[in-house]
Amino acid sequence: MKTYRIAVIAGDGIGQEVIPAGIEVLKVAASRGAFGCDFTEFSWGSEFYLRTGRMLDDDAFQQVMAFDAIYLGAIGDPRVPDHISARELILPFRQRLRQYVNLRPMRLLPGIASPLAGRTAADIDMVCVRENSEGEYCGMGGRLHVGTPDEIAEQTGVFTRRGIERIARYAFTLARSRPRKLLASATKSNALHHAMVLWDEVVAEVAGEFPDVTFRKYHVDALAARMITHPQTLDVIVASNLFGDILTDIGSAISGSLGVGPSGNINPDRTAPSMFEPIHGSAPDIAGKGIANPIAAIWAGAMMLDHLGERSAHDAILRTIERVIGDERVRTPDLGGRATTAEMTKAVTGLLAA
Ligand code: IPM
Ligand code: MG
Repeated sequence: MKTYRIAVIAGDGIGQEVIPAGIEVLKVAASRGAFGCDFTEFSWGSEFYLRTGRMLDDDAFQQVMAFDAIYLGAIGDPRVPDHISARELILPFRQRLRQYVNLRPMRLLPGIASPLAGRTAADIDMVCVRENSEGEYCGMGGRLHVGTPDEIAEQTGVFTRRGIERIARYAFTLARSRPRKLLASATKSNALHHAMVLWDEVVAEVAGEFPDVTFRKYHVDALAARMITHPQTLDVIVASNLFGDILTDIGSAISGSLGVGPSGNINPDRTAPSMFEPIHGSAPDIAGKGIANPIAAIWAGAMMLDHLGERSAHDAILRTIERVIGDERVRTPDLGGRATTAEMTKAVTGLLAA
């Protein structure tokens, strides 16, 4: 029997609640399929930082290399500045483990009400392929004359032909595999006339390899508006790191709840483990109450199985999530219900095992 070694970083806040829920579901999925999952927990995160002054062990990157995948909850704590918690944990993992694709499905599941009036599941079914290793998040820059009237901050964006080409190719390949075969590229070449003109040129070159995919570029502001006004016209979106960050929050919001959307930080070359996480954050306001929606984490776990080659287990979890949500009886408060995390998880594991 094949056994996958999974590094678990539940992290902060509701990460500690939704990741155990996801693990329960993964265990049921494994027992239905012909594979095993071996989970190893790491206590990295903000509590770890408050104890040790670091978000991670010094050799964290070497440690995780021994695993097939990483299952991450959420990182963020009101006692730790956000730029420390993100810059020292999530972003270095994405960059150092060459997870250059951030894959984010944005779907309105049947049974959930979108804040967009009159929209149903048929209207909102997109996936964002977000560049995850460079661009506006490259981390280069600095501050000078700190605290004086002459203070300067510089934050550089780095866009490479190689980086744009590989994310574009991934996005076109994904678009080709979907029924509508549409690809929208988010640009801003009217204002960012170095980086985004290169982006446009390289994406257009790659488009030439995919004549069967209908390709269009949009300035990111217009694309943001289009997601709200005409979501049914969008299928796959390819975007730079920052644009993808913003567009995927819009995508989760129109999908009815931040508690639903998953994401995969994927190293397509498989030279290091990929990392799967819910899009939502640590939600300190509801942490510890046992009412967090586990669906995003469960769905992220399903994406992890898909990446590991267990496509049918992924599909079974997705069908189960759709049935539980569609049934409308067991729902956490973010979806207008009164169920707890445990009750919602039990609804999923019960159906999945049946
Ligand atoms: C996300 C988050 C992160 C990002 C933060 C925590 C750095 O918003 O995963 O979308 O901007 O990528
Ligand atoms: Mg974000």
